[in-house]
Amino acid sequence: MQLTKDEERMLNGEMGYAVRKSMEILTALGDIYGADRLIKVGSVQVAGVSYHNLGDAGLDFLNELARDGKVKVTTTLNPAGMDLENWQNLGISEDFAAKQNLVIDAFTRMGILISCTCTPYLIGNLPRYGEHIAWSESSAVTFANSVIGARTNREGGPSALAAAFVGKTPRYGLHLDEKRIPNIQVKVDANLTRLSDWGALGYCIGKKAENKIPFITGIKEVELDELKSFCASVVTYGSQPLFYMQGITPGAENQIAPKESVIVEDRDIREAYDNINDQVTDIELVCVGCPHCSIKEIAEIAELLAGKQVAESTEFWVATSRLMKQLSDKRGYTATIEQAGGKFACDTCMAVAPLKGRFKSLATTSAKGCFYSRQNKMLTKMGSMRECVEAAVTGKWN
Ligand code: F3S
Repeated sequence: MQLTKDEERMLNGEMGYAVRKSMEILTALGDIYGADRLIKVGSVQVAGVSYHNLGDAGLDFLNELARDGKVKVTTTLNPAGMDLENWQNLGISEDFAAKQNLVIDAFTRMGILISCTCTPYLIGNLPRYGEHIAWSESSAVTFANSVIGARTNREGGPSALAAAFVGKTPRYGLHLDEKRIPNIQVKVDANLTRLSDWGALGYCIGKKAENKIPFITGIKEVELDELKSFCASVVTYGSQPLFYMQGITPGAENQIAPKESVIVEDRDIREAYDNINDQVTDIELVCVGCPHCSIKEIAEIAELLAGKQVAESTEFWVATSRLMKQLSDKRGYTATIEQAGGKFACDTCMAVAPLKGRFKSLATTSAKGCFYSRQNKMLTKMGSMRECVEAAVTGKWN
């Protein structure tokens, strides 16, 4: 990879330890993937924030970088392992909270915005069309590439951090026109009426696309929350973190529909539900907000939950960003949800909080949420927001 004089000085350590380490990571990646040079990035989003996933080795790595590392571009964080302000309310242990706070301290010293959300595009880290960025959360990467038309590979935590300290990333993969060409057409001929149907569609397309870039036709109408749910699911279940949706993705009109084509019909959607849903009736945890809830989703939850009470046998979590929670406070949604016994899980989510062994069953609107909760040994049910709220109130999945 060709380096400029400045970049060589960075690699030689003239600009400090964190920058040298970052250049080592970026040049190694560039060499592996055949990048010709580094390119500037407009923003960075860093995953690998939960102490649950990092452990002490990860914390040591972050503390080393935080000695002299300062980010050069707007950098936001993925969810952490707990609600940073209200962790006791979610049953997080003091030991875990102490370690998680050390992780957050390290990121704070680096100059990163402690946003702790997988929907950075809803809280001010919004790239423009065509902009090169270095993001790591898979659903956010897919949203940035496919809904906004920005350009990012699916970075790992360390490579995203490295891009933040250098302000650049190696030019390969989804930064290049030739690697962004769709190679499978997906015709959608299915009736999608509920939020969870978009997770089911993501499941179907992810499985059928098998690591290809889908060119999706047949979608007549789709809302933002449906797109974020679809983005989370399609990449979790198998496609590349980029799709073209006719009428939605900027630049889709300039792409040629691929010859290889598959179809998704109602029976595929039903099959997706069958595969995602386990045989379980008693629900111990209901968690909505994967990806993190928008203010519109929180408003819907408040409306569905008003005047009701969450069952004693069940916890009901609303996972969202702190900024969205503040809007919810102002609108009175928080009071309605909390009076009914619901809990806000700000800054965190069901996949990165230390939940293994705590709950045997989960209900959610999210196909991605089911995927990760199964890894945490939970039986899962996916359904509409209304079905999830009903499960929270009755403790049962009907
Ligand atoms: Fe976000 Fe966690 Fe889902 S990071 S996309 S809420 S698994």
